[in-house]
Amino acid sequence: MKITLAETAGFCFGVNRAVQMVYDLVENGEKVCTLGPIIHNSQMVEELSAKGVHVVSSPDEAMSDETLVIRSHGVGKDTYSHAANVGVKVCDATCPFVAKIHKIVDEQSSQGDVILIAGDENHHEVIGIIGHCNGDYYVFDSVEKLEKLFENHPELTQKSMSVVSQTTFNVQKFQDIIDILKKKLYDVNIVDTICNATQLRQREARALSRECDAMIVIGGKHSSNTAKLFDICSKDCSMTYFIESLQDFTEKLDSSVRCVGITAGASTPKTIIQEVL
Ligand code: F3S
Repeated sequence: MKITLAETAGFCFGVNRAVQMVYDLVENGEKVCTLGPIIHNSQMVEELSAKGVHVVSSPDEAMSDETLVIRSHGVGKDTYSHAANVGVKVCDATCPFVAKIHKIVDEQSSQGDVILIAGDENHHEVIGIIGHCNGDYYVFDSVEKLEKLFENHPELTQKSMSVVSQTTFNVQKFQDIIDILKKKLYDVNIVDTICNATQLRQREARALSRECDAMIVIGGKHSSNTAKLFDICSKDCSMTYFIESLQDFTEKLDSSVRCVGITAGASTPKTIIQEVL
């Protein structure tokens, strides 16, 4: 059986940087807590917990002698002021690509633009982006929802708008959204903020799923970028499995399966990928 591991499988630059920042703090003898799990991977969170790194859900849960790490998804402005108000030291591991979106929506909304965000309104990254908007904003995750938005808010067509995307948004879906907006000739400033790592990972996963009999997608159950990889692979390969670690893989692949492709989400540690491989 031929097994091909996607070159883009595993930690992306932003996740790697955030995890490294936590390890560096621990090595420097700092007491550390993270605002939410540093990555969507329970094994890694457990490993860090063994080193004394604990997870808090709000800055006021951090002890006064601890450093609070903001994870790569980023947070809204109010979280920084909350941390400052309770006197907690912050280490900001927001991915620079996410921070760039914060800057865009901050500046554009200050200039009066309505902000349109292509993404999942419940995802922490999107919640963080919303927290940098200084005026009206809307979140949608499909062409249908965008059209519904204009139906419900016809006044938008008269306004100046800026569109950004969640960094892990589906590349093709975002292109469809751009096409619609351009066709309608709205006064809109479109900034493609999909992360390059995501594009490459999705492209490679699609290509691999087209040539393999079975696909294994490894990643945390709550990782949206892994869920998107699973969607992409399932389209072209009916035998696609979503697993968090080797223990979840209980299938017996029969002899008709001659080649298996493996890919993994941005927060999947190398050790888990190697184990599955
Ligand atoms: Fe950053 Fe892209 Fe990863 S935005 S966190 S490098 S997927």
